[in-house]
Amino acid sequence: MARHLITSAIPYINGIKHLGNLVGSQLPADLYARYLRARGHEVLFLCATDEHGTPAELAAAKAGQPVDAYCAEMHAVQAEIARGFALSFDHFGRSSSAENRVLTQAFAKRLAEEGLIREVVEQQMYSVADGRFLPDRYIEGTCPNCGFESARGDQCDNCTKQLDPVDLINPRSTVSGSTDLELRETKHLYLRQSEMKGKLSEWIESKSDWPVLTTSIAKKWLNDGDGLQDRGITRDLKWGVPAQFDGAPWAGMDGKVFYVWFDAPIEYIACAQEWAAATGNDWERWWRTDKGADDVTYTQFMGKDNVPFHTLSFPATILGSNEPWKLVDYIKSFNYLNYDGGQFSTSRGRGVFMDQALSLLPADYWRWWLLSHAPESSDSEFTWENFQQSANKDLADVLGNLVSRVTKFCRSKFGEVVPEGGTWGAAEDALIADIETRLRAYEGYMQAMDVRKAAIELRSIWVAGNEYLQASAPWTVVKTDPAQAAAQIRLALNLIRVYAVISQPFIPAAAESMMAGMKTDDWSWPTDLRAALNALPVGHAFEVPEVLFRKITDDERVEWQERFAGVRG
Ligand code: MF3
Ligand code: ZN
Repeated sequence: MARHLITSAIPYINGIKHLGNLVGSQLPADLYARYLRARGHEVLFLCATDEHGTPAELAAAKAGQPVDAYCAEMHAVQAEIARGFALSFDHFGRSSSAENRVLTQAFAKRLAEEGLIREVVEQQMYSVADGRFLPDRYIEGTCPNCGFESARGDQCDNCTKQLDPVDLINPRSTVSGSTDLELRETKHLYLRQSEMKGKLSEWIESKSDWPVLTTSIAKKWLNDGDGLQDRGITRDLKWGVPAQFDGAPWAGMDGKVFYVWFDAPIEYIACAQEWAAATGNDWERWWRTDKGADDVTYTQFMGKDNVPFHTLSFPATILGSNEPWKLVDYIKSFNYLNYDGGQFSTSRGRGVFMDQALSLLPADYWRWWLLSHAPESSDSEFTWENFQQSANKDLADVLGNLVSRVTKFCRSKFGEVVPEGGTWGAAEDALIADIETRLRAYEGYMQAMDVRKAAIELRSIWVAGNEYLQASAPWTVVKTDPAQAAAQIRLALNLIRVYAVISQPFIPAAAESMMAGMKTDDWSWPTDLRAALNALPVGHAFEVPEVLFRKITDDERVEWQERFAGVRG
């Protein structure tokens, strides 16, 4: 059995995330973590809140709260919602942790010792009206690259280009809207990424098995003229990791902090330390290649806007340190999920946010739709019609119906036990062979993180069971040959347990109820399908589970469509 370290991009602390954010990192990461655990691997699955920098400061100011109190509160809120979606993090950390402060400062010191940090006195945008510098999200303007009008100082959300506030066309302060901006002198630390171009390039080139989305963005960045410029890793902000090491202020850097994109990925490591501190586990065997992490397979999940930071900036920190840190082995990235003819918008409250989703329907409905429509090869779109159709068909008609039909029929004809009699013949052999083939394909897709294909295959396994029942019709057979009907139902009841095991990564709550209904705790993977279909022996008691999935009505669909079209109330 192997060891797998899995991280999801850590969501900004500034408010509740929408379904597009969820499907771009946390949810597929959870799917993968659950699958690998189900196959018996040792998994460490980490996520955290990204609490520093301008997103946090701006949101706290808007909420009228001190930024530390705001972060503590929002962390608890995000953690609760993550539980609601059954995201199975081993630890949900905070980038503002003491662990991350120490580690971030240690990395900066190490990089400085390696000669990879230089001090730069530069001109930064200063807002006269606000009496402060305007780093990153404190400033907005038109993107010099694509013309998008609300590009932020650090990155354009439209074309994903990383920006410098001074590049923006028609810049304005996001604090006051003021355009009375001037350039003022300030000193910052720069990471000499350009020094590492060769190393990074070689490393990316060696990743021939990575998704094209990941490598194409990385290569565009590497080969773009200014793709791998030296980047400022400090900011004129109050909230963040102080730009110091060993407690002593870096000369001339008092009152400055590290850039949020410098400390955030370091939280992947600090989060393991937080987890270790909380549980008494050893974090080094996951992160230090001199302490056993050589055996670890490390997979990161993220949306495409995050790819440059994970393929270049963070690896520059890791490689530049010249210390034995674990480097990522595979980066699974996603395109965007759009919402009903436009984009999800956090600022305009357009689309469905994670808390709202859970107030409408249990997590499994969302998990199933989002994962089976994951924006892998291109952007994808959420529409209420599609959501209703897919939930009603896949979950209610195919899977839910099979479970309720089989269990209720058995209860009425044979009682709530696995019935005795009859034997399996050609029809059963054909079903088992068919599912066996599909199951092996499903395993392949799950291993490869081919999320949509895995969902299609899983659904086809559910359909195969339904078709078998339809064709063998135990409710008719029972009238003339009850023993044969018993054999058919025995297979179907066992199929329910197998479905619970293999569907669990997608729909964990429904899987739990199916398993509880079958009155067993045998979650072993059906490596040998025929054996797995004999796991519940004759006479084994079960109970008819509650309805697994109710249907979404047309009225609900219409109402929800209206409710989420506009500004979040
Ligand atoms: N908070 C960032 C976002 O939501 C992601 C940070 S990922 C990490 O886009 F690498 F920095 F940790
Ligand atoms: Zn742009």
